[in-house]
Order: sequence, then C-alpha cells, then structure tokens
Amino acid sequence: MKVLITGGSGLLGSALTKKLLKNSIDVVHLTRNKSSKNDVKNYLWNWEKNKIDENCFVGVTHIVHLAGAGIAEKAWTQKRKEEIVKSRVLTTRLMHSKITQLKLPISGFIAASAVGIYGAQISEKVFTEKDKAFEDFMGNCCKQWENSIDKFESISRVVKLRLGVILDKNHGALPRIANMVKNRIGSPLGNGQQYMPWIHIEDAVNVFYKSILDEEISGTFNTVSSDYITNSELTNKIGNVFNRKIWLPNVPSFVLKFLYGEMSETILKGVKVSNKKLKGEINLKYEKIEDALTEIYS
Ligand SMILES: NC(=O)c1ccc[n+]([C@@H]2O[C@H](COP(=O)([O-])OP(=O)(O)OC[C@H]3O[C@@H](n4cnc5c(N)ncnc54)[C@H](OP(=O)(O)O)[C@@H]3O)[C@@H](O)[C@H]2O)c1
Repeated sequence: MKVLITGGSGLLGSALTKKLLKNSIDVVHLTRNKSSKNDVKNYLWNWEKNKIDENCFVGVTHIVHLAGAGIAEKAWTQKRKEEIVKSRVLTTRLMHSKITQLKLPISGFIAASAVGIYGAQISEKVFTEKDKAFEDFMGNCCKQWENSIDKFESISRVVKLRLGVILDKNHGALPRIANMVKNRIGSPLGNGQQYMPWIHIEDAVNVFYKSILDEEISGTFNTVSSDYITNSELTNKIGNVFNRKIWLPNVPSFVLKFLYGEMSETILKGVKVSNKKLKGEINLKYEKIEDALTEIYS
C-alpha cells in the first residue's frame, strides 16, 4: 500500500501522514512547494499551469485529496472565491486526466469535502447526505468539488468526507476562539444560535485512515461528531475549560459583516448535520464537545 496525499502539508494532511507512517504505510505528498514540511517525498504540481510531476504516481494504490485554498484565510474577493473553487476542482480534474491517460490502477480515492455543502443557513433541520447542495457560494463550491471527485468512480472506489470544523489545539478555528476567551475578549458571534458541526482531529484522521484501508467503504459521509453545538454554547464551554466567564456582549452581526463581507455568513449561520451514516462504519472517540475540549486542553 502506498498513499499519495495532496495538501499533505496542511492540518489534516500532516496528522494523517503521521498516522500512516506510524502504521508502516508508505506516503508521498503532492504539493505546490518543494520545501513543504513532513518526513516524506514531495512531488510538485501546479494546477494553474496544468502541470503535475507524473513520478508522484509510481506505486501509488490510494489517493487522499485534501488540497484547496483556505476557505477562511483571506477575504472573499471575486478572485479569492475563484481560487477557492478552482484549487479544488481543477486539482481533482488534473489528477483524473493524468491517471486516466496513464491507465494507473488506483484502488481508493478518498477526498475531503465540507458540510458547507448544506449552505450558510439558520435552521433546526438535521441535514443528511441525501440533502441537496444549497444555493450559496459554499454550497456551489462543494457541489462542483464533489462533481469533479465523482469522475473517479469509473476508475476507483471513491469516498467523499464532508468535514465539519476540525478541532485541533494549534491549528484552525479552535485556537483563534480559545485565545480570545483566554484573554477575556471572547464572546459569541451574532446571535450565537448558529450551529457549528465539528470533529476532533483524531477522529477526522481515523475516518480518513479507515476509508483508505477498508475496501468496503464507498460513498459520501458527513464527517462530524454527534453533538449539535451552537456558537454561544461552544464559546461558553471553552470559557469553562479556561475558567473564564464570558462577560462581553455578543459581537453584533453588522460588525462581522463589515469586517468579513460575504465570508461572515459562514460564521453567522450554520446547520445541524447528521453523522448517522458515518457511525454505521466507524466509532468516533469524541462525541461530546466537553470530551473533545478536555482532551485537547488537558
Ligand atoms: N480544517 C477544517 O476545519 C475543514 C473543515 C471542512 C473542510 N475542510 C477541507 O479539508 C481539506 C483539508 O483541510 P485542512 O484543514 O488540512 O486544510 P489546510 O490546513 O488549509 O491545508 C490544505 C493544503 O492545501 C494546499 N493548498 C493551499 N492553497 C492551495 C491552492 N491555492 N492551490 C492548491 N493547493 C493549495 C496546501 O498544501 P501545499 O502547500 O503542500 O500545496 C495546504 O497545506 C481542505 O480542502 C479543507 O477545505 C477542512
């Protein structure tokens, strides 16, 4: 078994690489940057120039596709929105065309997607994998991303993992909120009632790991914990961990809209997402937010 990971230098890719290597599974990365970290061989690609180092595929049995421009990294200008979509769709197409052209035998294509497919909505409905993509930027982005992934179905087993916010001590959304809370300047965003589907980094890695190894798994899975938690509840639970009372009033929606423009939708809105299908395949270790936060900060 040999696994090629795209975006392997990122939060999820680094943690998955460690787990695979620990289990004596060969890993290589496909990256935009040769000096990319991690103790594995790096191969270069450039989706803007339609270039890929074909040597990356030698002996590869499984591909894990994680690459994509950060959703919340920069303001959503028209140019940035195009990059967010193209860095996912065109990278998938580039790999698909090369693998088809070279007639490479791949036994598993495991790709990230996001619960953002259900859109920035305020709703009490619990969304399942059968629900359609919502008509907003993230909904459309995930739809195009997943459509490009589906093309692999004619050549390989395909698993699409619709991730919630990954909780990790040092990277992503959690340390940003936790730092504010620790410094006594954290407070819920907007009305605080928006849901934030989440998954502990260890569970996210385990889901990808199992999807690589278990040849019986295929299809689309919401990759989230069982706990439906609102922004206000999360902020207060982080406050409990650090023994900080959340005393400031909520950050008004108009301030976030002014600061982040359209991207503010992703933090001011959010839905409940079901993990029933996923739990039919794998047990999660961190089902409750308290358990996840305790593990992360103990
Ligand atoms: N983290 C979350 O909470 C979360 C939630 C839902 C969905 N997801 C999705 O899951 C995937 C992995 O998440 P992650 O948190 O590990 O992401 P990440 O830390 O942002 O890493 C993504 C990797 O993609 C590559 N990349 C960045 N910009 C790119 C661009 N413009 N064109 C091509 N490649 C680019 C980079 O690898 P190189 O520099 O090596 O090329 C980067 O390390 C992403 O697609 C993300 O959207 C993540």
